[in-house]
Amino acid sequence: MSKKYDISGTTGTLGLIGNPVRHTLSPLIHNTISEEMGMDLRYLPFPVEEDPVAAVRGAYHLGIRGLNVTVPHKTAVMDALVDIDESAKIIGAVNTLVRTEGGFKGYNTDMPGLGRALARRGISLAGQQVVVLGAGGASRAVCTLALSEGAKAVYLLNRSKENAEALAEHLNSQFDGKRLVPLAASDYGQVPRNPSVFIQCTSLGLHEGDGLLIEDDDFYHMAEYGFDLVYNPAVTPFMKKLESFMIPCDNGLTMLLYQGIIAFELWTGVSVPDTLADLVLNRLERRIYGDNIILVGYMGSGKSTIGQELAKERGMRFLDTDAMIEEAEDCSIREIFEERGEKEFRDLETEYVRKLSTTAVHTVIATGGGIILRKENRELLRKTGQVIWLMASPEETLNRVKADTGRPLLDSASLTEMEEKIRTMLRERGAAYEAASDRRIDTDGRSIREILDLIDNY
Ligand code: S3P
Repeated sequence: MSKKYDISGTTGTLGLIGNPVRHTLSPLIHNTISEEMGMDLRYLPFPVEEDPVAAVRGAYHLGIRGLNVTVPHKTAVMDALVDIDESAKIIGAVNTLVRTEGGFKGYNTDMPGLGRALARRGISLAGQQVVVLGAGGASRAVCTLALSEGAKAVYLLNRSKENAEALAEHLNSQFDGKRLVPLAASDYGQVPRNPSVFIQCTSLGLHEGDGLLIEDDDFYHMAEYGFDLVYNPAVTPFMKKLESFMIPCDNGLTMLLYQGIIAFELWTGVSVPDTLADLVLNRLERRIYGDNIILVGYMGSGKSTIGQELAKERGMRFLDTDAMIEEAEDCSIREIFEERGEKEFRDLETEYVRKLSTTAVHTVIATGGGIILRKENRELLRKTGQVIWLMASPEETLNRVKADTGRPLLDSASLTEMEEKIRTMLRERGAAYEAASDRRIDTDGRSIREILDLIDNY
């Protein structure tokens, strides 16, 4: 291969062309994977208003390693490619361009992206009856997946029957049999009443007040599982309907995730492990649905009280690492310290910090006062959200904790001894709190309201 256009190694520039690309989540996906895998790839959005063919050719000569393509250019860029993957040809749209000798090769990763999102849930379309709602751009990839995975029959319901018919005619000619059946949405009664996988491909749900393509409750009873390509809001009107009948369903965020992962794998030849996929999914959820706030600080600094109030005010979830450990172990922190020792307690803390770093979304997390002692915990907490250090003076701390007997590390014969312990520990831990947090708030002499306002005004 010519050195000039060497695509080996894990360095280089990746990007997205489309219009608009301002709100794209793809840089978050690819830059996170690259960073976590220790690669040196940069992914950038490029708004391309006109002439996507010239943009792709230019990108090739600029040495761009790979591109994603989004609306409105997914079909137009095909003219700039030296090769096109078979299923992308059938779909008639590409979203991923991979550098090869002489030019880019086009792929469609939306289709296998949905396949992997469904597989993650243990769903296969082989032999299934599939009901697809909507016959727009996204639906082409969805119907192609269903037919290529061997669905028994695919019912394509669309507001305008003509569009459904055109898509069905095209895809039926590519696959054996006439398994794709186009219907006007109003003719939903013609779908045989068999257990089905429903896939919602319209944009309904994206906007406040959106309804459903088909309102009749009865129609949804035949769904065994539902997937909505829309992911914002997290629970779409389609999902609300299914959930009201206890039918399992997911939003489209995992499809977005896996179309990105498959593109990344095509560009680099490296496969992305499931644990990293989970981490990227968590980062996406936090970006879309809301980040976490983590409260650290010494005993008595107000982490639980402030945390609960903050969560209530902002409509966030509240978790407390000490309470999680006590519940899971079915015994008190004191019992764990006394029966198993501090080291085991610290190990449990690390286990929970690790878990929360890839699962918590839009959550206020109050932590145990010593969680910052381990470097691993400090680093993980900072990756989990915004970390706030609630500070209090030794005098104020003593006032707040002296009547409480739940803290084994403060067991003392007298108040003077307790105060001495507090002073020493605060001195020893100061640097660790500092290193674990993004900001600090002095709580001395401040009411809960005042502290909440300080958090708000950051
Ligand atoms: C500890 C603080 C406690 C609890 C344990 C150890 C510490 O949590 O995790 O007793 O090392 O500072 P709170 O800070 O919530 O009291």
